[in-house]
Amino acid sequence: MVGELLHVPVLPDEVIKWLKLKPGGLYIDGTLGLGGHASLILENSSPDGRVIGFEWDAEAVAQAEQTMAGHRARFQLVHGSYAEIADHCRALDVAGVDGVLVDLGVSSLQLDRPERGFSFRQDAPLDMRMDDRLKLTAADLVNRLKKDELADIFYNYGEERQARRIARFLVEARLEAPIRTTGELAAIVARSIPAKFHPKKIHVATKVFQALRIAVNREFDNLVKLLNDAPDVMAVGARIAIITFHSLEDRIVKQAFINNPAYRVLTKKPLLPTDEEKGSNPRSRSAKLRVAEKVAPS
Ligand SMILES: C[S@@+](CC[C@H](N)C(=O)[O-])C[C@H]1O[C@@H](n2cnc3c(N)ncnc32)[C@H](O)[C@@H]1O
Repeated sequence: MVGELLHVPVLPDEVIKWLKLKPGGLYIDGTLGLGGHASLILENSSPDGRVIGFEWDAEAVAQAEQTMAGHRARFQLVHGSYAEIADHCRALDVAGVDGVLVDLGVSSLQLDRPERGFSFRQDAPLDMRMDDRLKLTAADLVNRLKKDELADIFYNYGEERQARRIARFLVEARLEAPIRTTGELAAIVARSIPAKFHPKKIHVATKVFQALRIAVNREFDNLVKLLNDAPDVMAVGARIAIITFHSLEDRIVKQAFINNPAYRVLTKKPLLPTDEEKGSNPRSRSAKLRVAEKVAPS
């Protein structure tokens, strides 16, 4: 399903303004999705601005090839991870780009397809790989990791306060039979926490699912690598804009912008969506945008 929301890029006005888009500019969209932001960048850098879009999900790549078909002269698609930005740019013989955008998180294309195993709403194989070239699925982690390793994932990536208890229940349950589906995992998490402590606003397994997705796709490692390597492919004065949906990701971006001398922070506080945007595009609700500029080496 091509979700309508995916065509509506998050924080569009802020992205246009803060990337300082200009005709003739060369931009990298590290998380192409269906090309919402990429199209916006092309429109606002016309007539001759160019975009290179990275996307590592084969299904999204196939969809984006269609969505972006009209832009072929100014757009290039790379089926790969933004974490490999330096290698991809080297292979394409690209240097000194004018801007980098990354819009993190899952797409509705991924969430809405039960067979991808991201959602506890339908029972499906416990997969969660955004790129099917990744070796380990969520089921592999749940069935193979030690109890303490699982607890650390739930606590560190999901901020799940019941992490140890849930890990204990999972390890006991898998002695009986391997945990193979999203439904089985969600049911064990629900059983492990007494009903009176189930959260009211979110599903009891939300944080565990989020944590496993981050672990399977090594999302934080990818982000750290991107933030480290992006300045190597950026021109001095070029900007990097990162949209996060998770407080831990936001912290990684904030720290990297402050601590890496290649960056000058442009947004002391993250930019947030307006109430109007939150109303019209629910995906934007927890979005935060931080922007930095590449400075000349001293
Ligand atoms: C929230 S969506 C992007 C939506 C896009 N900005 C738009 O407006 O259509 C995030 C996308 O990033 C992709 N993605 C996640 N991690 C990635 C990575 N390390 N490298 C490349 N793409 C990645 C996901 O597969 C997903 O399609």
